[in-house]
Amino acid sequence: MANPQDFMKQLIEAAIQARRQAYAPYSNFSVGAAILGADERIHVGCNVENASYGMTICAERNAVGAMLTAGCTSIAAIAVALEGDGSPCGACRQVLAEFGEGFSIYLVTPSDGSIVRQWTINQLLPNAFRLRNASEKL
Ligand code: THU
Repeated sequence: MANPQDFMKQLIEAAIQARRQAYAPYSNFSVGAAILGADERIHVGCNVENASYGMTICAERNAVGAMLTAGCTSIAAIAVALEGDGSPCGACRQVLAEFGEGFSIYLVTPSDGSIVRQWTINQLLPNAFRLRNASEKL
């Protein structure tokens, strides 16, 4: 498994660069996400909005799609670049939890790359509903 500390600078920079590609003409709120996969590669995503607002996809979920498309199914860490003090939405927490149990989520400031907050996925989504639960049958 990749050691996040070895990749932290790259991971933060990748999230900041991904944010620059955000398509957010409705909210004007740009987000970038960079996942360090267990494959020691970085997979990025940005938020993509739509005129049909509910079709919006968050940066985190697009990064998960990129990771899977690259053939990796396990998250070692994720950095999310956004302005202020937000955190991944509930839908993204559920999707992220599908691909790892102990990884950290770093919230970073786009202007200087400083880490504003750090959580584990378990802190953001305790008792997540997982693959093993979905396959339990009565
Ligand atoms: N958004 C993300 O991409 N990730 C987050 O963690 C928070 C919210 C996006 C969705 C939408 O395009 C915009 O930010 C405002 O909600």
